[in-house]
Amino acid sequence: MHTLTFSNNDKMPALGLGTWKSAPGEVKQAVIHAIEIGYRHIDCAAIYQNEAEIGDAIAECIEKGLVKREDLWITSKLWNDAHKQNEVEVALKKTLKDLRLDYLDLYLIHWPVVFKNGIDFPENSEGYLRLSEVPLSETWSAMQQLQKGGVIQHIGTSNFSRKKLQHLIDLEGQQPEMNQVELHPYLQQQDLLEYCHENGIHVTAYSPLGSMDRPEVFKKQGEPIPLENETIVAIAEKNQISPAQVLIRWQLQRNISVIPKSTNPKRLKENFDTLKIELNDAEMDEIAALDQHKRIIDGAFFVAPDKGYTLESLWDE
Ligand code: A2P
Repeated sequence: MHTLTFSNNDKMPALGLGTWKSAPGEVKQAVIHAIEIGYRHIDCAAIYQNEAEIGDAIAECIEKGLVKREDLWITSKLWNDAHKQNEVEVALKKTLKDLRLDYLDLYLIHWPVVFKNGIDFPENSEGYLRLSEVPLSETWSAMQQLQKGGVIQHIGTSNFSRKKLQHLIDLEGQQPEMNQVELHPYLQQQDLLEYCHENGIHVTAYSPLGSMDRPEVFKKQGEPIPLENETIVAIAEKNQISPAQVLIRWQLQRNISVIPKSTNPKRLKENFDTLKIELNDAEMDEIAALDQHKRIIDGAFFVAPDKGYTLESLWDE
């Protein structure tokens, strides 16, 4: 099993199961299948609104003796409406209750964006709070306190730029241990990856297959589809593997974690089998040449200029 090692020697399985867009009614069975296949890392988030069902699946697998809690790596994410010092613990407790766990292996700040408490997606800028009102340092300090209390083993961020990571590093205390960002051949973010690795921050790739099942609001006409890219398809054919396997394996060989989402037993197995294959250096280079710095999740839904949120301020580029 490929693993990423943390500074206290904890090991996270690099290949995990993504659960964004996994519908209630489907996700429980998907998680059970995944654990039966051998997955030991499940990536969750409060905003995916399926943590209770994932919790049922985990509990069932533990009860059946399929797996022990300590053999699982469970990640979750703090939603944007709970960034204030006193809100972080409340949000974590809800996630733990839903997941039926007494600790998380990893907890991430989902986005560097703040909403008023209780608002999942604001309809207008009224629902936002400025980062100057609820600074990331406040949220980070609350995360660190929870880590010290033992209910979170590791803490990190998601969708953070180099600049925002550096800001957290410059504060006293624990630095981010993980940054989870969108990564696929059309958005390789090699500079961010190198920065993270130089600073001892692990990286997880979300939307590694291009998230074709994402909601329409995230889609734009004519967007390239990584699974259909001709270089990816050619490498797949040459190795007698699937394009999805090429996309997943490529990430594993960049020494990062990758969390392809599936609720389909055949594809869950196919994705897990990437642990057994290997791309050669020439194939890795061919994929590296496909970069277009093109985001699928471009953050446009988080733009609220009168509260200080623009695409430039979100990505710092
Ligand atoms: P499904 O859940 O029906 O398997 P991402 O991980 O980038 O968000 O992509 C998830 C999308 O990719 C889902 O639509 C998922 O469908 C699909 N998918 C997952 N695994 C594979 C695979 N091996 N081949 C093709 N599509 C896949």
